[in-house]
Amino acid sequence: MYSYSSLLERQDRVSALFGIDLRVKRDDLLPKSGGGNKVRKLDYIVRDAAIDNCDALVTHGGIQSNHARVTALMAAEKGWRCKLILHGDPNACHPCTGNLLLMQLAGAEIEIVPSDQIMCRVDQAVAVLHAEGAKPYAIPGGGHCPAGVLAYADAVIEVAEQLAGESWIPDSIIVPSGTGATQAGIIVGVIRLGWPTRVIGVSVGRANPRGRQVVAQAAEEAMQSLGLSNCISTVDFRDQWLCGGYEKASQQVLNVIKSVAQTAGLILDPTYTGKAFAALLDLIEAGEIRRGEKVLFWHTGGLLNLISSSYFMV
Ligand SMILES: Cc1ncc(COP(=O)(O)O)c(C=O)c1O
Repeated sequence: MYSYSSLLERQDRVSALFGIDLRVKRDDLLPKSGGGNKVRKLDYIVRDAAIDNCDALVTHGGIQSNHARVTALMAAEKGWRCKLILHGDPNACHPCTGNLLLMQLAGAEIEIVPSDQIMCRVDQAVAVLHAEGAKPYAIPGGGHCPAGVLAYADAVIEVAEQLAGESWIPDSIIVPSGTGATQAGIIVGVIRLGWPTRVIGVSVGRANPRGRQVVAQAAEEAMQSLGLSNCISTVDFRDQWLCGGYEKASQQVLNVIKSVAQTAGLILDPTYTGKAFAALLDLIEAGEIRRGEKVLFWHTGGLLNLISSSYFMV
């Protein structure tokens, strides 16, 4: 079961403005200095590492990876070593801001490498830690593994508990989807509860059909591990709001970020949640999300990505 929980907020002004019944799951407000979906995933993953008697974590991600930041902070909390293999433009490290700054403050051992060297450097980091007498636990990038998926299947139970006594069950859940583990977990959680909810993943990096396939595979594996026999018929993974790729945002996404901040006091980001909210508004406009529909927007974090990006710099 989970150690962390987040608010489920009504959004009355946005609801009235767009004619839907919107609630927001505030995983952006989870702990670990910037919160986000990686907190739930790593809570489960680090618990597995502790069961295996590990005392060091190794993982990889981009220079502004939320996953790497939460890994560094959780390792520090446990008194474990942490090696992070990061890829990206080394020039983007100056000035050192956002997630990277927090990884450094947490004392993680950081290596910045070209993308094609990531996996070999992860293997080397694990070997070096072993040679130094540590017991490392290698975490897949983004926490894309069964424990990460399970964390989100359980997060749906948390939502159900928060809704107990109300007749409100979401018709749709909208969530940003990267490695797909978060979306996969939510799909499994919804099926396990028997909700008639569609789970719409808005891609932040991958195109279909791969994006959809990866989510389906992760969800199917989790279903099997939970002993659930339902099959995953279709995965709703949308790649129309990619804006040219990971960490790229269009003017539309930037406008949505500004307008949601001003209408709802809700801060989105250009890499993840801004794209998902832009998708939500377009789906309402296109009539795919109907008037009065109960919509749960899963806010997965991204504040540090907003702050470290140059999009709103004046
Ligand atoms: C803030 C935020 N939202 C959404 C995602 C996507 O999550 P997942 O990789 O589980 O699809 C990430 C992953 O990097 C993230 O950091």
